[in-house]
Amino acid sequence: MTIWSGAVFPNSCPSRGRMATRRLLVTGGAGFIGANFVHYWAGRHDADRIVVLDLLTYAGNRTSLAALESDPRFRFMQGDIVDTELVRALLDEENIDTIVHFAAESHVDRSIHGPADFVRTNLMGTAALLEACRLTWPAQSDSHHFHHVSTDEVYGTLGPDDPAFREDKQYEPNSPYAASKAGSDHLVRAYHHTYGLRVTTSNCSNNYGPYQFPEKLIPLMIVNLLTGKPLPIYGDGLNVRDWLHVEDHCVGIEAVIERGRVDQTYNVGGGNEWTNLDLVHGLCDLLDEQFTARPDLATRFPDAPPAAGKSCRDQIEFVTDRPGHDRRYAIDGEKMASELDFRPRIGFTTGLRSTVDWYLDNEAWWRAVLDGSYRDWVAKQYEG
Ligand code: NAD
Ligand code: TYD
Repeated sequence: MTIWSGAVFPNSCPSRGRMATRRLLVTGGAGFIGANFVHYWAGRHDADRIVVLDLLTYAGNRTSLAALESDPRFRFMQGDIVDTELVRALLDEENIDTIVHFAAESHVDRSIHGPADFVRTNLMGTAALLEACRLTWPAQSDSHHFHHVSTDEVYGTLGPDDPAFREDKQYEPNSPYAASKAGSDHLVRAYHHTYGLRVTTSNCSNNYGPYQFPEKLIPLMIVNLLTGKPLPIYGDGLNVRDWLHVEDHCVGIEAVIERGRVDQTYNVGGGNEWTNLDLVHGLCDLLDEQFTARPDLATRFPDAPPAAGKSCRDQIEFVTDRPGHDRRYAIDGEKMASELDFRPRIGFTTGLRSTVDWYLDNEAWWRAVLDGSYRDWVAKQYEG
């Protein structure tokens, strides 16, 4: 049952009511969070149409959506969000009423090496999408909705005793990634104030879970352990992140889309702060335990330290710090809790365990990412 109704919040989204069917355009749906969101939404909203628009950059992996490829409710289109005409045609042809915008360049380290791609996709791409909506959807329409997925990194960094990020925290982005996302948030806001587009934004903390590209901390560490590589910890390892399971993030986004107020920003966090070092220690201990409990793992992963009787912690190496490395992120989830009755449900031990199990059980997925063959799958499957 919906707790918040349009009668309580006249601006709540959408005016149609909770049970109405939707026609979604999910940008970046072949990426980590996008793919999880598409599976989540398809499993809970039987009657909805889901169209994914994804450029399939290095981070886009169509195999993550393989289970939906033959579903008549689902369509995948490879394309660039920067291409306003392409987006307009898709909005028209598919009669899209809801956009959930994930597409982005998302890795801070890559943004330090090459900021231009981040400005192009995150800023110009979001601008192009918004423009496609303005030019295609009826002006001031109550039945169209643009949800923008953003990050807590727009708020900058926290000291150890600072209060967690609230929605009214001043923006202080420190990396090119965070700055490009901050710019995109401002554009979304401006399209509401100037053109009356119904928008919502969620800024969330670090996600983890299935289908995450092994360049981000948790999957990188798991995959490095299984393949016998070192575990690179930046600086002193005492930077703090607030970890949120991706499924909880999907539930949070659903809550904002269904019950959030127009033109509002919602911070979605895990309430789960860890230093990188403690987190990696925890992952190491989990893997050690799994190798003890499951003798088959030593045969499948002979390069992993426990296969040679060593502890995974022995693989930790402290490496040069990331330039401008934000010290701490933490989300204050009070607005999500009080307005939308959302609280993360997946505890960190359970979430980490299931994530480790997912990487153990889906070796083909990450091996294909490591050797690049995930990019050939589309050609093999669809071209001829
Ligand atoms: P990701 O890098 O795994 O996926 C991004 C997807 O966008 C890929 O499938 C890629 O092919 C696609 N894409 C990139 N450029 C495109 C373009 N020009 N046109 C169309 N598609 C394009 O990212 P993610 O981790 O799934 O993050 C999704 C969103 O969530 C991003 O907007 C990110 O800023 C935000 N976010 C992520 C996290 C996190 O921990 N991963 C935390 C907070 C916010
Ligand atoms: P990351 O997963 O890249 O997310 P973000 O930079 O968006 O928070 O990194 C999470 C934390 O882990 C961050 O403090 C940087 C650190 N880190 C390492 O120490 N070693 C690594 O190899 C990576 C990828 C990250």
